[in-house]
Amino acid sequence: MITPRHIAIIMDGNGRWAKKRNHQRVYGHIRGAKVAYDIIKSCVELSVENLTLFAFSTENWKRPQHEVSLLMTLLIKYLKNEQKKLNKYNIRFHTIGNPRLLPKEVQELLIENIESTKNNTGMNLTFALNYGGRQEVIDSVKKIAEDIKHNRLDSSDINEQLINSYLQSAFMPDPELIIRTSNERRLSNFFLWQAAYSEFYFSDKLWPDFSPSDLTKAIVDFNSRNRRFGGLTEPQPPPQPMRNIHG
Ligand code: IPE
Ligand code: IPE
Ligand code: MG
Repeated sequence: MITPRHIAIIMDGNGRWAKKRNHQRVYGHIRGAKVAYDIIKSCVELSVENLTLFAFSTENWKRPQHEVSLLMTLLIKYLKNEQKKLNKYNIRFHTIGNPRLLPKEVQELLIENIESTKNNTGMNLTFALNYGGRQEVIDSVKKIAEDIKHNRLDSSDINEQLINSYLQSAFMPDPELIIRTSNERRLSNFFLWQAAYSEFYFSDKLWPDFSPSDLTKAIVDFNSRNRRFGGLTEPQPPPQPMRNIHG
């Protein structure tokens, strides 16, 4: 079985999970954070090279202020508690998205986690925080424009590789497998450029119910896909002389 080099997960359904149990949405986020830990551990055990977790989108600011601040408080707790474990599992921690709008304490902890894991050689774990695919493209277009303006780049240099290198995700390969839980079937502004040839796996499970065995199911399903990248994978018969296609 092939393990995808990069798995990205849209962890969705925390609020619905809590609502089903007559709890406030925050309980879903608390349980969701625990599940994130279990899935990180499973990915390490499966030797996944890159795991990206979509944790907070540029659109999630639209939620009630008390939910946003509870999410930030949870994130602070998580980043404080898991630091040792990241090192124990030889994980290199990264973030994508704009950290500047996040609370100062979150920003500091992110830097601390990135710094303390930078010499690790195992899995790249990336938290997408205040991340939006369109914003990422806008930011890279701005940087390219600046470099052209200052003659560090010529417009004829612009190609796929160059754009890749200006994205925040430049250090990782494109996600081979994107998993979304909670039976929603959309990207919600995640990895717009990078998902060009990703395989999608949609799980009915709400994120707090997603388990390591669901992750294995997603990987098994990934292995059954025929990835053609626009080409052909079946061996083709030798070409026949062309007949008039109109008969
Ligand atoms: C995903 O769960 C977590 C975040 C987006 C932060 P939701 O909070 O979106 O849960 P639902 O989709 O409302 O159930
Ligand atoms: C996507 O989930 C963002 C994260 C999982 C962080 P949302 O719950 O925000 O997406 P929509 O609103 O259903 O599209
Ligand atoms: Mg949701």
